[in-house]
Amino acid sequence: MSDKATLEINGEKYEFPLITGSENEVAIDVKALRGATGGVITIDPGYKNTGSCESAITFLDGEKGILRYRGYSIEELAEKADFLEVAYLLIFGELPNQEELDKFHEDIKSHAIVDDDIKKILDAFPKSAHPMGVLASLTSALTAFNPTSVDVNSDEDMYNAIVRILGKFPVLVAWAMRKKHGLPLDYGDNSLGYVENVLKMMFKNPTSDYEQNPILVNALDKLLILHADHEQNCSTSTVRITGSSHAGLFVSLAAGISALWGPLHGGANQAVLEMLEAIREDGGDTKKYMAKAKDKSDPFRLMGFGHRVYKNFDPRAKIIKVAADEVLGDLGVEDPILDIAKGLEKEALEDQYFVDRKLYPNVDFYSGIIYRAMGIPTEMFTVMFALGRLPGWIAQWREMRLRKEPIGRPRQLYTGETYRPFKSIDKR
Ligand code: SDX
Repeated sequence: MSDKATLEINGEKYEFPLITGSENEVAIDVKALRGATGGVITIDPGYKNTGSCESAITFLDGEKGILRYRGYSIEELAEKADFLEVAYLLIFGELPNQEELDKFHEDIKSHAIVDDDIKKILDAFPKSAHPMGVLASLTSALTAFNPTSVDVNSDEDMYNAIVRILGKFPVLVAWAMRKKHGLPLDYGDNSLGYVENVLKMMFKNPTSDYEQNPILVNALDKLLILHADHEQNCSTSTVRITGSSHAGLFVSLAAGISALWGPLHGGANQAVLEMLEAIREDGGDTKKYMAKAKDKSDPFRLMGFGHRVYKNFDPRAKIIKVAADEVLGDLGVEDPILDIAKGLEKEALEDQYFVDRKLYPNVDFYSGIIYRAMGIPTEMFTVMFALGRLPGWIAQWREMRLRKEPIGRPRQLYTGETYRPFKSIDKR
């Protein structure tokens, strides 16, 4: 294959370099396009064909349904690693040995306290506040209490900011849930593993000890691994572009949390459960909802289906579907919602509209069923997605800063009014 692309505009030919990635993906390097052509730019709403960066963190092949973190397959990581190992792998590029993992965890635990004044901010929210809005606000507020985490000008600064947020974020997640349910805001237990500690902080009843359930620990650990990174998705791109102005890590993450909240993105796991509940209340009439999803005059979409990149099964959805059966079986939970989900999936996979558009179940289709079986409230589902995605966001932000990437500032094609003289009000 040639290492150049040729573009012809008004009879003029321009050559641009082709870049080939480690998985033989090819990109046209258009960095010189505007200068070489006297102002011509590309335009690509939603960036469906446009790469924002080179990255060495996550590879996914949407046609083949492949997902790898730093070269390791999601299937192997979900089966053989734990969440903290995967967080270390995403952020620093290699699986840690035992000594590295222990130090990483100790450093995280040393930052597991959140300034008590954060509770005053939390108190200001109405109980009706959505936990994602609370989490984004508190994550941003952490900057005020950890000012050294803003100007990360050295590896040490960067590492300290990273272990701080990995230590404090699970506390904010637990507080966001407990505040809504009128429960006391407590801290975790540094004698526990990372995921055990999350569960204890979320569910500990003030009047009794919290007994760990290994089924819940394993299920959450696997779910967090499956959500940990996904290359340049909407929220990760938001984290990267926010960080490209050299805004601090915590506020960049708060921007990513806000982007993830949207029902077309991470908010879909909550929307899936609400959709499945509506179908159940409607007597399980999946055909009605399939028709709505295909009706262009109806804004309803089959939540948990379709993906910008996967035009095959989302490998995470396959793993979560199996895990849903296992967890509900292990917990002895009979959930009619799971049967409705499986029925809906079967119908959609056989429906020409969905087949033609290559719409398959994505990561959000089954995850809420497991969260629900674990006793996690529906409004907390996207917060759990954010907890899982935290190491991925951190890894991507770190990569962008270490590579000293330029501030993100897209061009546009102006299609508005051309010059016109001011008109005084009496002439309008
Ligand atoms: C996540 O990017 C990531 O990696 C995200 C994520 C991650 O880990 O970070 O994987 C997490 O966000 C998963 C996606 C969760 N969202 C949902 O489940 C919401 C429902 N899905 C859709 O809204 C949609 O599929 C998107 C947003 C996920 C993708 O949208 P695209 O790529 O912009 O595709 P599109 O909107 O252009 O749709 C193409 C066609 C359209 O029909 P036509 O105009 O061609 O006739 O497919 C249709 C759409 O109407 N379509 C759907 C549909 N999804 C797409 N029709 C019905 N139901 C759906 N769910």
